[in-house]
This record gives sequence, structure tokens and C-alpha cells, in this order.
Amino acid sequence: MNYDNIIISIEEKVATVTINRPEKLNALNKATINDLSKAIKLLNKNEEVRVIILTGSGEKAFVAGADISEFANYTIEEGTQLAAEGHESLFDYIENLKKPVIAAINGFALGGGLELAMACHFRVASVNAKMGLPEVSLGLIPGYGGTQRLPQLIGKGRAMEMILTAAMISAEEAKEFGLVNYVVPQTELLTFTSVIAHKIIKNAPFAVGKAIKAINANFEDGKNGFDTEIKSFGKCFGTQDFKEGTTAFLEKRKAEFTGK
Ligand code: COA
Repeated sequence: MNYDNIIISIEEKVATVTINRPEKLNALNKATINDLSKAIKLLNKNEEVRVIILTGSGEKAFVAGADISEFANYTIEEGTQLAAEGHESLFDYIENLKKPVIAAINGFALGGGLELAMACHFRVASVNAKMGLPEVSLGLIPGYGGTQRLPQLIGKGRAMEMILTAAMISAEEAKEFGLVNYVVPQTELLTFTSVIAHKIIKNAPFAVGKAIKAINANFEDGKNGFDTEIKSFGKCFGTQDFKEGTTAFLEKRKAEFTGK
């Protein structure tokens, strides 16, 4: 499938999705959100793909936010709908995907761009990356999950300060806050991220999906994460990969997981 605003490459079970509007610093217009949503749904079904890496085109930006030119004249109803559709079709969808999605932040990750990175399961940044939620400087608040995911990741006080000041933080500060797991030179960003992806690929896919679900349950309203963990743990015992993993350990050999 061809897309106007993203590029997909698949290599050794890792799909790299590159948001490709460098002239607009990869700002998320509706068409790009649609492309991303369709592509991630297809990659989720593709058995050749075990991990997805999300990055931006060019050396300057991961994503510099939602496309301001598209919503500048929106009404209350249109604004509400914009946020609700984005949550459902892309941001929440990524967060709840069974396959890990890693954000490789190669430059500015602002507004919807940082929200997209935060919807991913974890983040790696290049040294030049800058992150922020500048929406209040536009008379808005973050609308793609930023007010919820940022405090989950860095704590309420730091999130309040970042959102209320609209200020950007450096990659190093983001690492110190726990917003990104690693900071690496820009030229090494994708290779470094791909090495982490391959560490994940060695493990049982069903178990990886259930681990994501159980961890996410800790942050969901009305959910008891411990219950989700117990049920998910139990379900793993019904898989061939569980038998293979434990047998391989006892036979002192490497497990060959099939995803069954
Ligand atoms: N929406 C739409 N267009 C955007 C954009 C966004 N979020 N961010 C950048 N662009 C566009 C600019 O309008 C410009 O387009 P043009 O060349 O047609 O005028 C192009 O991308 C390059 O951006 P520019 O501002 O010239 O680059 P810069 O290096 O001077 O500044 C930023 C970089 C990231 C600081 C600046 O682009 C910016 O503040 N962007 C908006 C960030 C934001 O508020 N995001 C949250 C949106 S909710």
C-alpha cells in the first residue's frame, strides 16, 4: 500500500514508519493521521512484523505538532471531534497495540508530536531532540492525551510545569525526567533503536503483548491492573511458546518461538 505522508520499510521483522512531511516539520495533518492509523492497523496484522519504530523524516523534526493551519478556524464541536477521533484512530490505538511501538525522536517533538511519542510504548531520542507541549501558547491545551500521559511518565509537578510554561526541554532533560529511555547521536538513532527492537523480538510475542496489556492496565480508569496481570499470566500457560520457552530453558538451548 502507498501512502502520501509516510514511508514504511520492513527489515528483519522490524517495521520503520517515517512521517514524511519534512517541509512542515512532519506536522500531523488529518491525512497524515489517517495514513498512520491505516498503516499501523495493517502492520499489526502483518505476521512478518514484530516491532514498529516510529520516526520523522529529515534531521530537524520528529513531529512539530498537529497541523496548526488545519484547525485554526475550528469551532468547539470541531475541536472536540478532532481530539476524540485522534485518540480513537491513532493515539489510544498505538498505546493498546499488542506489538511494541518505539518512538525514535530525531528532532522537535512538540504538541501532538510529543503526544504521539508518548502513546508509543517507550522512546529513544537523538541529542538534538527538543520536546514540549506548547498548546497553551496557542490558546489550547494538549488534546491527544498529553495531559494524561505526560504526568504518568514524568510525574504531576514536572508535567504541570512543562504544560503551563509551554517550554521545551532538551533530550538530556527528557532522559533525566524519564520521558525518554536513551539519548544517542542522531546518526545512530535508528540503528540503536533497532538493536532494542531485536532484543524484544527474541521473546515470545504473545507474552510481549500480554505484558503491554498488563502494564497499561495500571493506568486505566476503573481497571485493577493486578487482576489483568493474573488473567494475562494464566493465559500464557495455554501457549505453545510457553512450553517452548520453559523446555528450552531446561534443555539449556535457545527458545524458538512461533507466536503460537
Ligand atoms: N503546524 C503547521 N505547520 C507547522 C507546524 C505545525 N505544528 N510546525 C512547523 N510548521 C511549518 C511552518 O509553518 C513552516 O512552514 P512554511 O515554511 O510553509 O512557513 C515549516 O513548518 C518550518 O517551520 P519554521 O517555523 O519555519 O521552522 P523553525 O526552525 O523556525 O521553527 C519550530 C521550528 C518547531 C520551533 C516552529 O516551527 C514551531 O514553533 N512550530 C509549532 C510548534 C507547535 O506549537 N506545536 C503544537 C501544535 S498544537
